[in-house]
Amino acid sequence: MSDIKSIIDDIKNRVDIIDIISEYINVEQRGESFKALCPFHNEKTPSFHISTQKQIYKCFGCGEGGDAISFIMKMENMEFLEAVKFLANKYGIEFNSNMSEKNKKILEKTKKYIDINTESARFYFKNLFSIRNNAYEYLRKRGLDDKTIKKFGLGYSFDSFNSLKNFLISKGYDISELIECGLISKKEEKTYDKFRNRIMFPIFDYRGNVIGFGGRVLDNSNPKYLNSPESIVFNKSENLYGINFCKKEIKNKTVILVEGYMDLISLFQYGIKNVLASLGTSLTKGQAQLIRRYADTVIISYDKDDAGIKATLRAIDILINFGINVRVLDLESSKDPDEFIRKYGVLEFNKKIKESSHYIKYKIDLLYKKYNILNDDEKIKFLGEAISLIKTLKNHIEIDFYSNYLSKISKTNIESIKMEIYNYNKNIQNNPNKNYKINKTNKEKFEKIKITKKIVFVEENLIKIILENTNHRNLILSQIQEKDLLLYESKEILKYIIKNKELDKITIDKLKSLNIHEEYISDLEKIIINDIDNLDTNYIRDVINNTKKNTINQKINNYQKELSINENKKEVHEKVMQIVTEIRNLKKELESLNK
Ligand code: CTP
Ligand code: MN
Repeated sequence: MSDIKSIIDDIKNRVDIIDIISEYINVEQRGESFKALCPFHNEKTPSFHISTQKQIYKCFGCGEGGDAISFIMKMENMEFLEAVKFLANKYGIEFNSNMSEKNKKILEKTKKYIDINTESARFYFKNLFSIRNNAYEYLRKRGLDDKTIKKFGLGYSFDSFNSLKNFLISKGYDISELIECGLISKKEEKTYDKFRNRIMFPIFDYRGNVIGFGGRVLDNSNPKYLNSPESIVFNKSENLYGINFCKKEIKNKTVILVEGYMDLISLFQYGIKNVLASLGTSLTKGQAQLIRRYADTVIISYDKDDAGIKATLRAIDILINFGINVRVLDLESSKDPDEFIRKYGVLEFNKKIKESSHYIKYKIDLLYKKYNILNDDEKIKFLGEAISLIKTLKNHIEIDFYSNYLSKISKTNIESIKMEIYNYNKNIQNNPNKNYKINKTNKEKFEKIKITKKIVFVEENLIKIILENTNHRNLILSQIQEKDLLLYESKEILKYIIKNKELDKITIDKLKSLNIHEEYISDLEKIIINDIDNLDTNYIRDVINNTKKNTINQKINNYQKELSINENKKEVHEKVMQIVTEIRNLKKELESLNK
């Protein structure tokens, strides 16, 4: 590891930050510098600046900034060393020259197997377009256009026992390697193409390497799909179909999870691109981890049949264990997302996304269908099970919300439902061990939420604009109050400015009488806003909104901290309810800012 510094230097010398960033987002050149919509927060006008000269980026909306390595760390959710390795690998920089012989062999073999799969994908793809064939007709009949077919590299395996085999052997590969990759089968010393007369779906890893295939029949015969076996390059339980395409398209840290190839490809063609497919197998922990790299919310859109419902329930449990928010989509009478979007179009699908249910609501609705609540006994069973579900929630606002929902659908008094739930809290109190654990994890969690440099930057940037430009100042003052700011310093400056509105540009020395911390002053001095007189009003609105959001989030955190201290004390029930209401109001405010 001694040469890690030289590897980093090597990366920095050889790699242009623009190339890296533009693989993830659209960047626009403005003279010497580049601008983009910030990938780290929601905005409508670009405030994400990239300097090729300094090889750094900085967002003036949310404060995120850094170099190529930190960009990859954020985007791919990687640790520092992982990001260095990722870039080294991508740009052909040797990561560790003292690699052991064994590891070198593994690396070589991996490269070779990816080559074999890639060559095969090209071969199948060419077949699809070389002569008239049923596979191409089939794909067109299922609504895919040429652009989509190309994008996903779909192909066709001829109805032949040796066309791929001959092709790959002619390229110089050993038959044993082809067998290990699962492209060629062997039976009683005879070797032959495994995939015959099938539509070929190449499977990519997150970097875009071809690592395996799924092959679908062209009719209703069985088995409907054949898949590549696990190999040194194809680890099914750690990969998700579509990850290479999807990772560049994730907005709001949300992905849609579907079952099949066709679901994903179809949604993609209709412009819904933040999709991943678990390929009909049950979701694994490794896959949940992969998702968590890129997203914090998953909307499950599996098939409507019983198998799909079972798979949804399993996926929910795995995902929530990884701290991922889970919602479920209801496609009504359509059997899968592919069928739905082709029938009703993208607008309807987006509506369904908006209407998707929190997983608890989804589970309550399933229970509701299972029981006949007109029958008293069944209704009580239903309530009991639904209440146990609600009890698994940790967030008081959610508990409140779904208690209300349950009360409404079951026509049961909300107070009785709440009493059942609070009863549960008393039980926790009787169990000191459990109680301690809950408080401890909460405490640790809250201690982590500090006012970060980023948050400070957003607010300071706003203050700088108010100081420097009177037009923007008036706009900002009409929308910002002291309560919207987080820092004592910012509040003091705001008060001073309100009192001295008539002043033109306010220089920083004028603030020195205000007892402002020197670090704050030095930060303000460092912020330089190019072309400040011509800032877009949308940009200003973003800065205002982000400042407000940060403050609200901070308040919510403080309330939640208070809640975690009080929630198990009986005597402060009133207070807890008050805090819950405060939090709920703040969240509403936050939501309206997010619109
Ligand atoms: N699958 C599989 N083997 C099977 C059936 C299904 O590996 N015999 C996997 C495939 O990855 C498939 C996914 O499970 O994409 C979902 O199955 P299904 O809904 O039956 O297939 P679709 O992809 O929807 O295919 P189509 O719409 O073409 O029927
Ligand atoms: Mn289908």
